[in-house]
Amino acid sequence: MTRQDHATRIEKLLAAMMLGEKIGQLNMLTADLAVTGPGMPADYMAELKKGRLGSMLNLYGVPLMRQVQRVAVEETRLGIPLFFGYDVVHGHRTVFPIPLAEAGAFDPELWEKTARIAAIEAAAEGLTLTFAPMIDVARDPRWGRIAESAGEDTWLTCRLAEAKVKGFQGKNLAAQDAIAATAKHLAGYGAVMAGREYAQVELSERAFHEIYLPPFRAAVAAGAAAIMPAFTDLAGVPLTAHVGILRDTVRARWGFDGVMISDYNAIAELMAHGIAGDLAEAAALALKAGVDVDMMATAYTRGLPVALERGLVAMSDIDACVRRVLALKAALGLFDDPYRAQAPVMTAERWTEHRAVARDAARRSIVLLVNRNDRLPIASPPARVALLGPLGDIAPEMLGPWSGAGRGEEMVSYAAGLRAAWPQSRIDAARGVEVEGEARSGIKPALDLARAADLVVLALGELRWMSGEAGSRAKPGLPGLQNEFARAVLDLGRPVVVLLSSGRPLMVPWLFERAEAVLACWYLGSEAGHAVADVVTGRWNPSARLPVTWPVEVGQIPIFYSRLPTGRPIDPTFRYSSKYIDMPNEPMFAFGHGLSYTRFAYSNLRAAPAQLREKDTLAVEVDVANEGRAAGEETVLLFVRDPVASVSRPVLELKGMAKVFLAPGERRSVRLSLACDAFAILDAKLAPRLEPGALEIYVGPAARAEALLKTSVKLVA
Ligand code: GLC
Repeated sequence: MTRQDHATRIEKLLAAMMLGEKIGQLNMLTADLAVTGPGMPADYMAELKKGRLGSMLNLYGVPLMRQVQRVAVEETRLGIPLFFGYDVVHGHRTVFPIPLAEAGAFDPELWEKTARIAAIEAAAEGLTLTFAPMIDVARDPRWGRIAESAGEDTWLTCRLAEAKVKGFQGKNLAAQDAIAATAKHLAGYGAVMAGREYAQVELSERAFHEIYLPPFRAAVAAGAAAIMPAFTDLAGVPLTAHVGILRDTVRARWGFDGVMISDYNAIAELMAHGIAGDLAEAAALALKAGVDVDMMATAYTRGLPVALERGLVAMSDIDACVRRVLALKAALGLFDDPYRAQAPVMTAERWTEHRAVARDAARRSIVLLVNRNDRLPIASPPARVALLGPLGDIAPEMLGPWSGAGRGEEMVSYAAGLRAAWPQSRIDAARGVEVEGEARSGIKPALDLARAADLVVLALGELRWMSGEAGSRAKPGLPGLQNEFARAVLDLGRPVVVLLSSGRPLMVPWLFERAEAVLACWYLGSEAGHAVADVVTGRWNPSARLPVTWPVEVGQIPIFYSRLPTGRPIDPTFRYSSKYIDMPNEPMFAFGHGLSYTRFAYSNLRAAPAQLREKDTLAVEVDVANEGRAAGEETVLLFVRDPVASVSRPVLELKGMAKVFLAPGERRSVRLSLACDAFAILDAKLAPRLEPGALEIYVGPAARAEALLKTSVKLVA
């Protein structure tokens, strides 16, 4: 059917709909399979039969979906099908690394591939929409949802947004293996005050438009079918009711005509925010801002009729939202095929294929943070291994905070992965301590195992519920007695490799100073254990990099690489410069940090043309050589700096990346090209502008001055 056919059908439906049915299309309720927010599951079947339900969340499985969809199609007056949403954030049944981990692969092709697989598995279970990608830039590790983000960088998050939208939606939303993507949570949620979940957000307009909004524009440009406004406010105006952003910027200026779905109960929470006196006012504020779907607040079903009577909204406002919801259903092909009869069927070979991608994604997401004395890789199987710590043999924890339809028992633990890689080795697992609590009884037996081992693998970290939504931590270090236990293990002087599992950078400076080898394993999903074994044994040379700056201590937060120079740039030798008196400015690990089992050297950076005009493309080339003994993949990062502009500009901004795989001794020239508009800035009035003048170009592995080669070009009018 053409768009015109859809429009004709929608107008005919709209003309036939009664008020209750119109509002019903704007109502989304959760099934009782899961509750991801404060509201309790409503009796969705009763609402559905009255024609007061337009979509559902947390319901999947073809038999159940068909059972509910049949009622919508056959037992309601107009037979309008539902769409079914779910948080397929990093995989459906096959679970991929959490987004913060996968972002570290710096690989849009991989990001798209895992989203495509997630879409196939989700569609195979009757889902038609996912509440993903989460593209909130996050610069505060205290905030639990940094786990769901692509980290601190706007440009990287834009690339991930594009890749995920394409992966989830494919080329045609009506295809049986496509699911609608929801770009969330627009916007600035990652800047909650003090990293405290749902806290107020105080951002300059510049920061909002320059750092937090662009990923959503990228998602819209990539064709995202839906957007979810954030729970939070922006300078006192909750995004759920923000006319200036939702209506005037996203819809009017960007031309987004997709569906806006509130976050869970967020419309009703406008009362708690203190901008609505009752549910009718809350419903009116959200509707006028352009929020089409009310997730679980039942604010629209209970508040809009009253708001209409009070004249707070007009029928045309309601019709506009209903049109968009019906248009989404039409685009998903639900009017023609409400049961998606041809949805993918998961076969054994498909599961195997998906798990293989999960293993590849997982090992590409592991960051080698520390590797003294070439402790890693362990090239030959040790006779005896002590796998110690609370996260070594606990498969469900590998799911991470949003596990989708993942099943804990289907995850591969580190113990299972190491045993599969070293079948001849004796591998004894002992926790020593738990993640929580003060029990010390397990420490002695664990130390006895360490004393007898040729290698100790120490699996430390957080439990998955300690990050993700409602997972803010004011002291984001190693919980419980893990520090004490780890010190006792290291005191034995045996060879130790530390595996760190977390949804955020953990502040454990003493461990990074003292341990010989530390891998950031985040939460790697279904194939966690096999991926870790691939890296520990050297089958995979670790290639991931940090997509977020890793602070030494909480006191440094927020700390990120693209900072402004200030009028007194840091000078460790001069008191009156931008620094602390009790701690260095430098982070524990820089954005882009990630060691390899080999060594890459950069040389011969050149950029042309030297004089850049508006329509030009800048060609940047650098030679990269593998000077070590192992083949490996290197990610080359391109940063820019505008040293003199009409407003102060960051000391570095990521604007490009490229990958190169090199055998030992191999050297290759790597080319990155940059369209001239990449140098545009928002001027003092926040208007995008290309400003003539010198531009500095930096290329290297990480946002660390000493690791970067520099050249410059001139932008001429
Ligand atoms: C949650 C989250 C949101 C999620 C929604 C549905 O509260 O904020 O990211 O998509 O509810 O589960």
